[in-house]
Amino acid sequence: MSPVSDALTADEVVTGEGPTVHDPEPHVFVILGATGDLYRRKLLPAVYGLIQQFDIAESSVLLGAATSEMSDDEFRVMSREALSAAGLAGEACDAWCNKFLHYQTIGREVDTYETLKARIEELEAERGLSGNRVFYLALPPVAFPGVIGLLGEVGLNQSAGWTRLVVEKPFGKDLESAKTLNSVVHQHFDESQVYRIDHYLGKQTVQNLLVFRFANALFESAWNRDRIDNVQITVAEDLGIGTRAGYYETSGAMRDMVQNHLTQVLTLVAMEPPARFDDVAIRNEKVKVLRSISPIEPDDVVRGRYSAGTIGDEAVPGYMDEPDVAPDSTTETFVALRAKVDNWRWQGVPFYLRTGKRLPKRLTQVTVTFREPPVAMFEDFEMGERRSNVLIITLQPDERFELFFDMKSPSDVPRLVRVPLDFVYTDKFGPMPGAYQTLLHDVMTGDQTLFVRSDEVEESWRLFGPVLDPGVAPDEYPAGTWGPERANRLPDPDLDEWTLSQF
Ligand code: BG6
Repeated sequence: MSPVSDALTADEVVTGEGPTVHDPEPHVFVILGATGDLYRRKLLPAVYGLIQQFDIAESSVLLGAATSEMSDDEFRVMSREALSAAGLAGEACDAWCNKFLHYQTIGREVDTYETLKARIEELEAERGLSGNRVFYLALPPVAFPGVIGLLGEVGLNQSAGWTRLVVEKPFGKDLESAKTLNSVVHQHFDESQVYRIDHYLGKQTVQNLLVFRFANALFESAWNRDRIDNVQITVAEDLGIGTRAGYYETSGAMRDMVQNHLTQVLTLVAMEPPARFDDVAIRNEKVKVLRSISPIEPDDVVRGRYSAGTIGDEAVPGYMDEPDVAPDSTTETFVALRAKVDNWRWQGVPFYLRTGKRLPKRLTQVTVTFREPPVAMFEDFEMGERRSNVLIITLQPDERFELFFDMKSPSDVPRLVRVPLDFVYTDKFGPMPGAYQTLLHDVMTGDQTLFVRSDEVEESWRLFGPVLDPGVAPDEYPAGTWGPERANRLPDPDLDEWTLSQF
């Protein structure tokens, strides 16, 4: 996350004109698993965005590597098709594709990694590069330890320049496996070289949580147990699992979304102000939040699984009828839980987390409900009940901040009317770079702030250990509803429902 230089005026920031804060240094960007979905749908469009922004196709090289036999030209054709499918470049990328995109077949044997190394050195010599390298593991998690070991074995863990390793989620499947994977990583790479991706941290609104909190004294002074009643974090998706049962059956919503994306958002909402705006200080504070949370107990959690239902006008099948789901599956597609952050700032303020597939719509929101006014002054005049102020931070599909408060209506019989102060990012700033574009830029410029540190990943697994794999079927909820009925009883009994932007 590049801090915006003081030298930039607001307009320069808005339009993207003016001095560039951090140009990526020339490098070889190696993507292991470059024939897969992640490369085609996320990484390549992100790299394309960086080409537009920084012209990295002139200065750097992308080397795709995977087990498929493929020539450079075939890789370029596949990449062009992927860009077209994403509504980008199409034929227009011919100009840079030939120079920028390359491909190397690899296997599971050490000699294929020696060949990979020779190919990298050859490209560096051709392009006059000084040995800066990124290795991006766009691979199934089961392949991580072996590939990391092979990179180390052939000496690709260091170079004449910098070498960085990017690891996708999921990082382990519980505390033990995360520790084991961390020790494999640390046998070959120093933590300062490691970038564990959680793409939620690349979303602009997630990063803006920090700026919103620590650049605006107004809110920070109210950001505590004296003023806040509860915090809710909802990540709702209308999509089902599609054809991903192979992965999802071993994961479920707890591992797929809660342990990483929702927990990351929670840490940014709850953390203390860092001593400095840098990666060490910020990540230290995030870890402290995780250490303050009591382990989640089964009673704090409601698990759900979608049954057949309707999303919009479309009838959709239940989870158990999705392709490749085991007949005795106990995998959850929905989780609602209560977390207790037991520290001075938050003691007694519940954090409610909720995520699910096949919910009515795609929506990610953080809802901060403030305490009610101490006196119900207007109830005596039948103007309306006292209510809490609510701050709703929407991360997607649109990105906005809304602060709801009560005003008097101008009618003969005055009433309290709920109105928002509303700020929509795109109205002010126009379209924003996607999460992967932000994160890849940070990898290329060596900024680890938005990546998950080894202790952070272990702490988050520690939290959820007691509620992974309970081995019982989750509560059913019809697709197109907000999860099982029991989940509605989790929030504050006075509130008795989840707060969304529904005022
Ligand atoms: C991924 C999960 O990490 O995040 C998916 O594996 C989920 O199951 C996706 O659909 C959601 O990401 P986003 O950015 O669309 O909210």
